[in-house]
Amino acid sequence: MRVGSIRVHFGRTSFIQPATGGLKRAYREREMEVQHNTLVLGGVRVQELVETYQSPLYVYEEDILRERARELLAAVSYPDREVKYACKANTNIEIMKILHGEGVGVDAVSPGEIYAALAAGFNPADILFTLSNATVRDMEFARSHGILINIDSLAQLRLIGKKYPGIEVCVRINPDVGAGHHNNVITGGPESKFGIHFAQVDKIKKTAEKYDLKIIGIHQHIGSGILQPDKFIEAMDVLLETAGKFGGLSFIDFGGGIGVPYREDELRIDVGVLGQKISDEFSRFCDRCGKTLKLVIEPGRYIVAECGYLLATVTAVKQGEKHRFVGVDTGFNHLVRPAMYGSYHRIINATHVEGDIIGQTIAGNVCESGDTFTRDENGIVDRDLPAFNEGDIVCICNAGAYGFSMSSNYISRPRPAEVLVKQGTSRLIRRRETIEDIFRTAQDL
Ligand code: LLP
Repeated sequence: MRVGSIRVHFGRTSFIQPATGGLKRAYREREMEVQHNTLVLGGVRVQELVETYQSPLYVYEEDILRERARELLAAVSYPDREVKYACKANTNIEIMKILHGEGVGVDAVSPGEIYAALAAGFNPADILFTLSNATVRDMEFARSHGILINIDSLAQLRLIGKKYPGIEVCVRINPDVGAGHHNNVITGGPESKFGIHFAQVDKIKKTAEKYDLKIIGIHQHIGSGILQPDKFIEAMDVLLETAGKFGGLSFIDFGGGIGVPYREDELRIDVGVLGQKISDEFSRFCDRCGKTLKLVIEPGRYIVAECGYLLATVTAVKQGEKHRFVGVDTGFNHLVRPAMYGSYHRIINATHVEGDIIGQTIAGNVCESGDTFTRDENGIVDRDLPAFNEGDIVCICNAGAYGFSMSSNYISRPRPAEVLVKQGTSRLIRRRETIEDIFRTAQDL
């Protein structure tokens, strides 16, 4: 066993300092443990995980999950603040139970997410239902559990006013500022379907008055995967100005969107600095208006992305004319982000962490050419990685957010199991689907 500490840089590994007692790998700010050239997650070797739970497999490190939640809770010093976890990033109920224990609330966008939050033990008062083009049935579901609804359009404000006159609501504002890692995830500005433009405050107030609706909160969410802190502050200023035009507010929700570094050259947002700025601006606003309001933020990705990994097994290696294709037993049905957004995810040869570096394409088992994990929006981008061979375990990093939650049964393959690891132990938190699970809804008629 080699002893040292290694850093992965653009897929290459190199020793950076000697160490004793095992091979530790510095992975940007974070150490990843390696034993006998094999990756160890939460103290458990990847082979053991795959032998016990089979492949492909989603694995989450509990310590990192808790650390990220605590970091955000500590980042915003303003005393009356709430971090609502945007659970669309990952609705595994055990993960949500852990986050509940850490003291966050929930932003839910569907009855299913409300169900998951309640099952995880969240109180209805801790949940906000941020609807987008919701049906009356969706609204009834939220109301039947006493959950506050965050309204996205004047039409939906009228609808809810007619059905539930006199209730308390939150209203989503479009601050005309947007940002995000891809056009499809920018949710503020003129191209975005979300929220009511801030210039329409009078219409919002008039509609609310007509149905005696009490607007107790205003909300915005400008996009996802944002690594420029200035964008948050720019949008925040617009929302605060808008908030000044409402009486009777008890909270302002500035949404989520804090990105994580997926690429080795991306810098991490200093959430402590951002949180302080947000707290300061908010305190100043409250002082100016003579109000004491609650400050809410709504991160999803930041909390769960980095604790999660998708493990897959190499089934076939093919040397093509142009690319070395490393075929694996998973595909974009299990992790769609590379195919959908051209997203970059770090990849590790988890059973040969060190080895000869060669350019390779990691290809899935879905019958579409776009099913490659090493790509950008235009297609394949070979990645320099230690050579993969059949039987090797591939570890796709930063898969905890929008990984399993966006997975599907395309090509009628069951979805993977999910496992939580912590200090050398592992625990199944969702069993592997079976083929029968997929077809039950059509057969049980
Ligand atoms: N609040 C609302 C109302 C949202 O729609 C979202 C994300 C969030 C909060 C949390 O954003 P986050 O902190 O996770 O960036 N599937 C895409 C991301 C879509 C995000 C949609 N809304 C991806 O894989 O990158």
